[in-house]
Amino acid sequence: MNILQTFALVALLCAGATPLAARPLDAVRKDGTLLLATEGQYAPFNYFKDQQLAGFEVEVAELVARKMGLRPQWKALGFDALLTGLQQDRWDVAIASHAITDERAKAVTFTAPHYCSGGTVVSMNPALRSARDLAGKLIAVQTGTTYAAEVRRLPGVKSVKNFPSDSDARSALASRRVDAMVTDRFVAKELLRKSPNAGFHIGDRVTTERIAAAVKLGNTALADAWSQALQAVMDDGSYAQVSQKYFQEDIRCP
Ligand code: ARG
Repeated sequence: MNILQTFALVALLCAGATPLAARPLDAVRKDGTLLLATEGQYAPFNYFKDQQLAGFEVEVAELVARKMGLRPQWKALGFDALLTGLQQDRWDVAIASHAITDERAKAVTFTAPHYCSGGTVVSMNPALRSARDLAGKLIAVQTGTTYAAEVRRLPGVKSVKNFPSDSDARSALASRRVDAMVTDRFVAKELLRKSPNAGFHIGDRVTTERIAAAVKLGNTALADAWSQALQAVMDDGSYAQVSQKYFQEDIRCP
């Protein structure tokens, strides 16, 4: 073996020893099952209905998995465990309304977005509705969300109170332990639809987000296969049907 061949062999062995992801696309395909993780506390996107996972992104994820020729299999966990679990190879895809951000993109690989939305102010006081109105106020957010990071950056916000789930933040608001909360605008709409007499007011949209599924950092083959299958369900009318069912409109990104 000459020096070049030796070098090529060493390079090959090194590449084999450091795979970019533990479950590359061919391993997932061979297995036939796509392991999906979500939270299950974020209606109407992912929640439990009669002890079954339900919601817009649960249904979209299942359409995408089937388009890929895979059987979807779910796990439900706390929101802040979902992205770190990808790094530990505990599931293949996390899908729980994660906005694509530069910071998250350092830790995971995002697929194409499955919807666009934004953070919205919700309060018990109709006069408290814009980002400016939040100055001097106590604001509730869910831990680990983009809203938690963004509210902290707003000028003059008195303090930000973190809650493990969005519904915990909502309870704090309902019992007036905080002045307002920031959550997804469709989550806020659903809240108002479900509890029209609870006194919640929906204020302004304060952020814009592209929401996507995530895979382990570097697993671009899986991310690309997901994005292609997502495009196919967007093209064949099945995405639109699910979106109409939950929102009476199509919420795909423009
Ligand atoms: N869109 C926000 C974010 O990217 C909130 C997502 C919250 N998701 C959930 N399943 N609770 O952080």
